This record gives sequence, structure tokens and C-alpha cells, in this order.
Amino acid sequence: MEDAAPLLDAEAVADLVLLDPLTEESLLQTLQERFRRSDIYTYIGNVVISVNPYQSLPIYTPEKVQEYHECNFFAVKPHIYAIADDAYRSLRDRDRDQCILITGESGAGKTEASKLVMSYVAAVSSKGEEVNKVKEQLLQSNPVLEAFGNAKTARNDNSSRFGKYMDVEFDFKGEPLGGVISNYLLEKSRIVRHVKGERNFHIFYQLLAGGSAQLLQQLKLRQDCGHYGYLNQGTSSLPGMDDAANFRAMQDAMKVIGFSPAEVTALLEVTAVVLKLGNVQLSSSFQASGMEACSIAEPRELQEICELIGLDPGTLEQALCSRTVKARNETVLTTLTVPQGYYGRDALAKNIYSRLFDWLVNRINTSIQVKSGEQRKVMGVLDIYGFEIFQDNGFEQFIINYCNEKLQQIFILMTLKEEQEEYVREGIQWTPVEFFDNSIICNLIENSTSGILAMLDEECLRPGVVNEDTFLTKLNQLFATHKHYESKETQNARRVMDTSLPARCFRIHHYAGKVTYNVTGFIEKNNDLLFRDLSQAMWAARHALLRSLFPEGDPQKVSLKLPPTAGFQFKSSVAMLMKNLYSKNPNYIRCIKPNDTKSAMVFTPELVRAQVRYLGLLENVRVRRAGYAFRQLYGPFLQRYKMLSPRTWPRWAGSDREGAEVLLADLAYPKEELAFGHTKIFIRSPRTLFDLERRRQERVAQLVTLIQKMVRGWRCRTQYQLMRKSQILISAWFRGHAQKNRYKQTKRSALILQAYARGWKSRRLLRELKSQRRRCAAATTIAAHWRGYQARRTYRRYFRTSASTFLANFIYRRLVCRYLVGLAKNLPPLSVLDRTWPPAPYKFLGDAHQELKSIFYRWKCKKYRDQLPPSRRAQLQAKLCASELFKDKKTLYSKSVQQPFRSDYLGLKQNPKYQKLHTMAKDKVVMADTVRKVNRASGKTVPRLLLLTTEHLVLADPKTAQPKTVLGLGDIRSVSVTRFSDGFLVLHLKEVSTVGAKGDFLLVSDHLIELVTRLHQTLEATTGQALTLHITDKFSTRFPKGDMSVTVVESPKAGPDGPICKKKGSHKMEVLVH
Ligand SMILES: Nc1ncnc2c1ncn2[C@@H]1O[C@H](COP(=O)(O)OP(=O)(O)O)[C@@H](O)[C@H]1O
Ligand SMILES: [Mg+2]
Repeated sequence: MEDAAPLLDAEAVADLVLLDPLTEESLLQTLQERFRRSDIYTYIGNVVISVNPYQSLPIYTPEKVQEYHECNFFAVKPHIYAIADDAYRSLRDRDRDQCILITGESGAGKTEASKLVMSYVAAVSSKGEEVNKVKEQLLQSNPVLEAFGNAKTARNDNSSRFGKYMDVEFDFKGEPLGGVISNYLLEKSRIVRHVKGERNFHIFYQLLAGGSAQLLQQLKLRQDCGHYGYLNQGTSSLPGMDDAANFRAMQDAMKVIGFSPAEVTALLEVTAVVLKLGNVQLSSSFQASGMEACSIAEPRELQEICELIGLDPGTLEQALCSRTVKARNETVLTTLTVPQGYYGRDALAKNIYSRLFDWLVNRINTSIQVKSGEQRKVMGVLDIYGFEIFQDNGFEQFIINYCNEKLQQIFILMTLKEEQEEYVREGIQWTPVEFFDNSIICNLIENSTSGILAMLDEECLRPGVVNEDTFLTKLNQLFATHKHYESKETQNARRVMDTSLPARCFRIHHYAGKVTYNVTGFIEKNNDLLFRDLSQAMWAARHALLRSLFPEGDPQKVSLKLPPTAGFQFKSSVAMLMKNLYSKNPNYIRCIKPNDTKSAMVFTPELVRAQVRYLGLLENVRVRRAGYAFRQLYGPFLQRYKMLSPRTWPRWAGSDREGAEVLLADLAYPKEELAFGHTKIFIRSPRTLFDLERRRQERVAQLVTLIQKMVRGWRCRTQYQLMRKSQILISAWFRGHAQKNRYKQTKRSALILQAYARGWKSRRLLRELKSQRRRCAAATTIAAHWRGYQARRTYRRYFRTSASTFLANFIYRRLVCRYLVGLAKNLPPLSVLDRTWPPAPYKFLGDAHQELKSIFYRWKCKKYRDQLPPSRRAQLQAKLCASELFKDKKTLYSKSVQQPFRSDYLGLKQNPKYQKLHTMAKDKVVMADTVRKVNRASGKTVPRLLLLTTEHLVLADPKTAQPKTVLGLGDIRSVSVTRFSDGFLVLHLKEVSTVGAKGDFLLVSDHLIELVTRLHQTLEATTGQALTLHITDKFSTRFPKGDMSVTVVESPKAGPDGPICKKKGSHKMEVLVH
């Protein structure tokens, strides 16, 4: 259903062949309506008409490519991709070489169309590294060629100023292998001159805008376009065109194609030379002979050019300002006038550039050409400049329009031929249609004997005065009656008054319109001469590329033969092209420009009408419909319409053709509407086709309803059956399941009962067994316990009674051990004076701890004592004895503690005065001291020497050292001393002794404590009896005159000299002590 839509939209039919009624007006309206809907493509059969939208449309996306890939040509919206796909498939599958001819006015979208075709083919052909590289190279040739060959013109900002034919070559699988590019007639006059508002070739602006400062310096160029004579005749930058970015894109493209950096540099150098040539200024001067000559006005530019190309400036200057003329066998150097000089300069610039362009195309070809010799299929894409009608048309327009005329011819011939051939092939009778055949115009131009081009050549070669006027006269004579030729003269002859045709002009009625050509410049341009001096100068340059462009400059190869004229060259290349195109299956893209202002969505009917006319679209449709508007293979036709007859629907058993015949017979169309070819059915008018389509739609609607009805019925039925089957199945399953469940339940109950019974029996048995076992076990346990009890009772004594003690002992020992070990580690220092002792760790060890403390201390003391010398020991013993005697009993004792006991206070041995006393004591002296003896009668004291030996106590006179009293120790009964700190002592004697008769002695000693102690010790040692000592305040002494009671009184009067004894009566004495 969907695919019928484009066919049936009567208001804007996608294929103009179906237009009804077919008039110029309806065709135009259809195009306009489609254009309004942004459907810029329309078919005439398999010719695509493309109306330039001047805006980017979203119809070239990768999705679109996919949509058109392997599509059915008539089933999708018309698109350039569809024709590209058709051509590609035909090439790949049917092995037919293809050519895609893109024609149209300048700015109609030809170049864009050719790029779309190329990109489509690249996108759908297979992928692979090598293939991609080839594709990329082919696609990237565009930016390079566009930079050098395109320019802004009044009609198109990116107008191709050369014709391009590109053969893309494929292998048998349809993979691109490479290609060949041919170029036609570059508009080289643009190099030196262009109309205001246009530009020179893009490359110059790109180079100046995009070249790095270094590059420009290397090329000796300035960035300012206005500086260059060839560029500053108009706008330099274009809105929407980034010259710098394009330059980079061009450089990248060259890299992709495979240009070496040196080649790129050489190319740009030659480009720079062309640009700089425009700035070489000439000035006039006069020679000695008075002849006008020209010379270089400012040598700098010339100098720089010569530096760039490696040439002697003199050579170039000479070549620019003079000319060598060969007359017979002489060569003469003639000077040029300034205009001649400029002419030569411009000719040189044009020639260099056009030859450079040819070189560029050849260089690209070497990169993209197919290396292997395998068999290839070719798809040619022709993008050639469109028909041009300007105010002032010159040689270029003539040539361009001639080429277009040829293309139109090929179009007419091919479409007709194709059409005719098809009818013949199909065995259909048909009546030829009227259409305009332009071969008469082609002939007018190219006829080799009497064509305009032949005439021009003849005029150029003719010796004598040659100018355009003679040429025009000749044409006027030749074509005086030609239907398509006009000039002032022929008009006059026919008495036609036409002011629009000036003199020196001729007019040709081209298929696309009448064009008036001005003959000025025809001969010069046809000759396309470059002074030999200039080509020789170029050949002399060291710049390899430049040199290679001028092979004819080689003096060795000088030929006097004139080179072929431009017209001749072009004619032959067009002829070659035509031959090439004829050998291929043509596909047409006819481009139409909708307006003159390059604006989007503006459709100027008048402009389009003119194009429709000269493109002969109406004729095209007519030819296409000459007999039959529609044709289709029987197979697809039957497939599409078989539902219209009950005999062919739903299936036809016979051949396709019979089927179609039966079908159409049923439909009862008039006989003349149909024709049956060998393989195709032909339908004469679109109306019939539309009727077929309408019926089909209705029938399809019915069929759809029918099918829907059947399907719904079938679906419900099957659904019901399925449900019924399912229901039966489910209930069967359910019943089975319920039964099974019941059985399982019964079985389970029986099992449970069984199990219970068995269990009960088993448990009873088990219980019995268990109780038996328990009884056994109990008896055993009881016996064991009993025996154990007995044994324990027997042994308890051994165990438990001593266990606690044992444990306690053990713990105790353990603690003690730990305590002792700890103590041993922590013993205080061994100094006797240190009485520190660590605290007791356990309370129960408190006593032992104290004991150990005292043991330790005593042990320390013993150790100290053991190491003392005997004398010191004796001394200490004496001190000890003194302490026992007096400690806490007599105040003097505490004072005496510090004083050491010196024994000998007299120096018995040393002092010779006491020699006698010494000998008397016979080394048994215990103590020698001075004492004072209290006179018993007066109580006054006198000094005496006291000598204590082991046997005696001797009192001697201090002056004579004569003993006065000698007491045996055994005579001493007792000794009395006071409680105070005095040295008063009383020696109580035994009454029986001899000395005793004198009574007791009262003495005062400064060393009382020592004296009494020693006396005690000696007495004990000798007699074995302790001294009886009284420490008292009141005692009685025995004097010869009876007993006397002595009272000791503490008084301050006593003073330091010792006690004062005062007799109080005869039996009392008071001793004052301090
Ligand atoms: N299919 C298209 N979609 C959008 N714009 C287009 C399309 N074809 C052409 N154009 C516009 O028209 C301009 C001229 O097209 P071009 O192909 O250079 O014309 P020609 O080669 O016929 O002189 C392009 O620069 C572009 O802006
Ligand atoms: Mg173009």
C-alpha cells in the first residue's frame, strides 16, 4: 500500500511520466508543488530531475543511504541515491558499465549531485582497509580539484570552472579499485581577469588566508589579497566560505591522495609564480631607433619570481619584453610594445596555470589509477559546466554551450534509442513521436569541413591578415540560410529588424535558447599562442615542475608546426567523451536552478520554465510515453495486481504473461490501452494505471477485510478449540490428580496406621529391652557405687585428712619460697646504718618478716664486727660495757658516748717522768689518768695520777709520780656514782683491807664512765666478780672518823670544774654537782 503513494499523489506525481494531462504548465506546477514540499527530486522514468534547494536537507543521512540501498526504484521516494543505487546494482549484477550524466545550468547543483553519487557508491560498496583507502582517495580528489578549478561566479559561489569526467573502476565484486579523471577546458581567462563581484580561482585566496607565515615567506607572498593585481578586482572573502579552513582541508586531501611534501611545495610555488606574474608591471620606453619598447617597471617582483623558479631575471625580462621572430633563415629580436608585453605576461600566467591544472589532474590520476590488469567495470560520472547565456558571450561560452549541445544530443539519442530498442525488444509496434533533434546544431558547430569550429581553425591558419571580421563574414556566407544561425548580416538579408543583435556578433539557436556570441577574441583564444620566448624561458628555469610544464620550450625540439587550436582540441576531447559515454549505460540527473538569487525555497516559475524547455523535459516525458506511459515485467505486475481477478487470485498456476493477460481481460480495458511485450506489459495512459491502482486499493481493502475476517474467525475458532482442548486436558488432569490424591491419602493413612502399630510394638519391645538394660545398668551402677563407696571409705583417711594440710603446706611453702626468693632479690644495702626493710607481703609472715629483719640486721652487724681489728673491738666492748652500766642511769653517760676510750691519758710510755710508774705496772696498765681526790676532811680536791692495772689501782702524786696509794683490786667493795653528769665517784673499800683503814676514797674524774667501766671489766677478768655499782643521790661512805652520809645536790654553783664538796658537820657532806 505504502509504495503506491508516490505514484498516486496526483497533485505532485513523483514520476512525471504519470502526469495527466501532460502540459508544460502541469509539469511546472508539479515541480513547484514538489519543491514546496521539499521533494527536490522527481523522475521521468529513470531520469532524475533535481531542483537545487539552496539549503541543506536531512535526506543525505546514513539512514537514508540504508533506505535506498538495494531498494525498489519505484517503491521509494525519488532520490539521487535511488539512481545511484540502480546504476551501481546494474554495474555489479548485470556487468554493464555505467555513466551518470549530470547536466544543468551553472549553479543548478551538478557538482553537489556528482559528490552525492560518489559518496553513495562509496557508502554502499563493501568495506575493507584497501577499499576504504581507494574510496577515500577518490572522494578526496574533490577538495583538491575544487580549490584549483572552482571559483565564485555571479551564479554560484563554488562554480566549477572546468569540466570533469571521472571514471570509477570496480572489480567483479563491485569494490572500487581506483579511477581516472579527465578534465575539460579550464576557464583560464579567469586567471587574468574576472567580472566584478566574482573571484579568481579559490586556491589563491585559500593560500593567502590559510598559508602559515613561514609558507608565505617561503613563497615570497604577502597575506593581503589587495596587493595582487590578479586578485584585487573584486571581493576577496566570501560569506560562508572559510578559505583558511578549506586550504587546510585541501592540504589534508593532498596528503590522503599521496602527494609528497615536495610536490605540494612545488605546486604552491608555481601557483605563487602565477599570482606574482600579475604584479609584474611594464613601462614604455623608447629605443634608439625611436621604436616604442617596453621594460620592467619595478624589478623586485620579477626578481622574486626568478628566485622562486630558479631562473636568471635577465632571461625572463627579455622574454617578457621582446620576441624572437624567425624570418626565413634569420632570427630577429624585436621589442614589444607595452600592451604586447602585458598580453605576453597574461598569456604566460594563463598557460602556466592551465598546464599546472592538467598536471594536477594527471598527478591525482597516478595515485588513483588501477594498478592491476584485472577486468574492471566502470562507472563514469560527468560533471560538466552547464549551459551559459551571458550578456556578453565569448569563445568560452561558445565552447561550453557546444559541449552542452553534445550532451543534449547524447541524451536525446540515448533515451530515444533506449526507448526504441525496448519496443523492438519487446516486439511492440509504436509510432514515433515529435521531438526536437539538436544534431543540426551540433553539426553547425562541429562539422569538420563546414562547421563553425572548422572555419575558425581555417581562419587561424590562414596566412595574411587574420581577424575576427573575416571569420564572421565567412560564417555569414556559409550559414546564410541556416535555421539556427543568425547575425546582423543574415538578418539583414532576411530583412529582419533586430536591435538586440549587434555587429561583430553571431547568434546560435541552441536547444536551450538563443545565444549571441561576440567574435572578438575568438581567433586569439582559439590559437592560444604563447610566445616561444616565454615557453623557452620557462623551460630554462631550474624549477623541475615548472620546467616539465613547458616541454615545447626545449630548443632541441623546436618545431615550426603550429600546435592544435583550442577549438580543435576541445572538439576531439568531446568526441572522445561522447564515444566513451555511448559505450555505457546512461543514467541522467538533470539539475534545475529554481531562482537566480541562490535563495532557499524560492521557486521562480519563469526561470524554471526556461530550463524545462531547453532541457526538453516535456519531450522527454512524451518520448517516454510515446507509446506507453508505464511498463513493467509480467512477474511484478501480476504480483501487484493479481487480486483484481478471481482467476488470478490468490494464486496463478500458469506463466506470468498468461496471468497478466487473463487479469487484464477480466478488467476489460480498451484494447488500445494495453500492449503485451515479450517480457513486459505496456500501459498506454496513466489514467489506466491510476484506475488499476484505484481498483487495487479497493480490492486490497476488501481483501484486507476478508483476511481480517478469516483471521479473526480462525483465531477465535482456534482459540476456542484450544481452550476446549485445554479445558478437557485440565479436567482430566484435575480428576486424575484428585484420584491420585485420594489414593495417596488412603495409602498414607494405612501407612500411618501400620507405622503406629509397628511403632507401638517396637516401642514396647524397646521399652522392655531398655528397662532390662537399665536394670542391668542400675545393678552395675549400684554395685560399682557400693564398691566405690567402700573403697573410698577405706581410703578416705589417707586422702582427705592430710590433703588440706598437704595443700596448705604446699601453698605455704610455695608462698614462702616466693617470699624468700623475692626478698633475696630485694635485700636492702649492707650498710649497718641502713635500717630499711621491705614491707611484709603476707600478713601471716609478719613475725618471720620482723625476725628476718632483725636476723639480717644482726648478721650485717656481725659481718661488720668480724672485720673490725682487735683493738677496735676491745674498745667497742668497753663502750658496750659502759652502756650496760650507765645507760639511762647516769646523765653523764650520753655525753661520754662520743668520746673514745683512750686508756692512757698521761702518755706513760712517752713521758720519761712516768717511767717508774710504767715499769711498776709491768705492762699491765689498763688505764692511766689524772683524777682529783677529795680531801675527806676539808672536802677540797687535790690532783692525783690514777693508774689501773690488771691487779691494782694506784694513786700517785702528779709531781713526783710516786705512788701514794696502791689498792689491790680485790679490796674494792663497791663504787658509788651520782645520777648526774658529774665525775664524782666513791670507791668503797673492804674494811679488812690494809688501805681500807684509811676509809673510802672520794674521787673526781674527767673520764668517769671509762674509769668505772674499765674497773668493772678488769675486776671481772681478774676476779671473776662483777663490780658492785651504786648510782644514787645519797649514800654513806666510811671514813676513818666514822661513816659519813653524802648527799648529792644538783646545783648551778657546781660549775664546770667539777663537783664542790661541802662538809656539813662531821658526818654529813653535801656534794654540789651541775
Ligand atoms: N542537493 C543540494 N542540497 C543543498 N544545497 C545544494 C544542493 N545542490 C546544490 N546546492 C547548493 O547550490 C550550490 C551550487 O551547486 P553546484 O553543485 O556547485 O552547482 P553547479 O556545479 O551546477 O554549478 C552549492 O554550493 C550548494 O550551496
Ligand atoms: Mg559545478
